[in-house]
Amino acid sequence: MTNQYEVLGKAPTAEELKNLAPDEIHLTIKNLNAGYGKMEILHNFDLFVKKAQSLCLIGPNGAGKSTILHSIYGFTNIFSGQIELDGKEITNLTPAEKLKSVGIAYILQDNSVFPDMTVEENLLMGGYIKENTDESYQEAERIFEKYERLRNRRNQPAKVLSGGERRLLEISRALVMKPSVLLVDEPSIGLEPRYIEMVFEILRDLQVNEKKTIILVEQNAKKGLEFADIGYVLVSGQTAIAGEGDDLLSNPDVGRLFLGG
Ligand SMILES: Nc1ncnc2c1ncn2[C@@H]1O[C@H](COP(=O)(O)OP(=O)(O)O)[C@@H](O)[C@H]1O
Ligand SMILES: [Mg+2]
Repeated sequence: MTNQYEVLGKAPTAEELKNLAPDEIHLTIKNLNAGYGKMEILHNFDLFVKKAQSLCLIGPNGAGKSTILHSIYGFTNIFSGQIELDGKEITNLTPAEKLKSVGIAYILQDNSVFPDMTVEENLLMGGYIKENTDESYQEAERIFEKYERLRNRRNQPAKVLSGGERRLLEISRALVMKPSVLLVDEPSIGLEPRYIEMVFEILRDLQVNEKKTIILVEQNAKKGLEFADIGYVLVSGQTAIAGEGDDLLSNPDVGRLFLGG
């Protein structure tokens, strides 16, 4: 069977990937083999991302994009390889440890908002793992100050929120833990176009003004690459092409296979 993605050629080397995140590398994945049960999905996978940089993973369905986020967060079986944050190994920490001790947050979506709880209660759920609840309250206040859309509905049940506001609440809930890395899986999925812009603006603000490192999976490759500083094209559990977002947008193979061009 011929594979339309074969043209994508040879995987970039770790050195080439490193050049896309030249200094202050915040999160590193080295030679990772990981999957579910005994099944290996990611093969010798490397990733380098700087502090306050955004990286978008694109690629066909089933390529393993979500599995990369799952591996960083601790939801997969890691057979070999390493994950490091600021040079410190975190490969085998649990998701709770990732969130609490090292500041990696995974943004859950798709009905992860509790419809009958208020917006404020939903937001505070983001800090459930914290011992110091005062900190969660403080952080929630800061979020309400920042996002009028949530502030206005603070005491209303979350089911009254629009799709875009709901996504904002999902993102904000992760912020309660003051993470340095945000793992975001398909933020535009299921949203009306007018809210898609809003969500990317929110992510941009978090990257630029709050210096969050963002690793994003996006089915809408054009939007994702326009947003992100750098992008990896994932095919069958390996990176086939990597580059700056703009360079990938103008890459003819990427255009033909992923941008409908
Ligand atoms: N929880 C799971 N258990 C077993 N296999 C899974 C699980 N999640 C995903 N997979 C498999 O891993 C592969 C990669 O999936 P995924 O990372 O979700 O791809 P993508 O996000 O690129 O569409 C697929 O073959 C998928 O069926
Ligand atoms: Mg996925």
